[in-house]
Amino acid sequence: MSKLNHTNLTKNLYNRTASEWIRGEPISLSDFTARPFLLELCEPIAGLRVLDIGCGEGYCSRELRRRGAAQVHGIDLSQAMTHKLVKAASLVLSLSPKQIMQAFGEFWVQYTAQEGYGEMMDMSGHTLPEFLENLDNLHARVGVSFPKLQPPSFECTDMEENSLSLHYRSDREGLTPMILGLVKGLGTRFDTEVHITQTQSRDDGAEHDEFLVIYKPN
Ligand code: HEM
Repeated sequence: MSKLNHTNLTKNLYNRTASEWIRGEPISLSDFTARPFLLELCEPIAGLRVLDIGCGEGYCSRELRRRGAAQVHGIDLSQAMTHKLVKAASLVLSLSPKQIMQAFGEFWVQYTAQEGYGEMMDMSGHTLPEFLENLDNLHARVGVSFPKLQPPSFECTDMEENSLSLHYRSDREGLTPMILGLVKGLGTRFDTEVHITQTQSRDDGAEHDEFLVIYKPN
């Protein structure tokens, strides 16, 4: 009997080939053969919410949105493919990948709160600094339901009345711009004006990323 791990094989295959999938228009053979039929089978799509399982860099998700889908949620087991999704979105929207990641982070806070995690977020603090200090506890709670979770770690230091240093540690790369958006999104959640700047970066050889967060509750 085969002992191959198909999940890992597929994940590794797409992680390796991710860059070849980015496209703003049809380029691969299946974009001309199978995909048009598949997209036709999804009609009528206008106004519907779509879950695109194995969305890759989002080619079909974008096409379904173009055809009028109200919302498209994409998931993919290849982390490299989801990074390429950011690249593809930046081509389509004429925004930089950093701007896309930042906008995603900001949107994500509001989206997660609406989609069933609002109470968990409420329990994690009533002010921006309190919430930031509790982020690791929050992810630890999430980890009870998702045992394979590989959460990031956040630490607050130099806490003053209206400022703090936020330290971000992660096994992953490339997600740092998202932190700027996430913290701004939290500012909106707590009706607090936020100014966040990165003060040290792993890209420049630092051990972890660090941000200065200046905030003022309205
Ligand atoms: C109830 C709210 C939240 C839930 C349910 C949640 C859940 C998760 C989950 C499931 C992951 C993926 C981990 C994995 O792939 O193994 C993740 C990653 C992450 N979370 Fe949260 N999270 C929440 C709030 C936040 C907030 C408010 C921040 C703001 C700073 C944040 C920052 C991050 C970051 C940056 C990652 C990316 C992983 C990394 O950097 O290594 N999360 N979170």
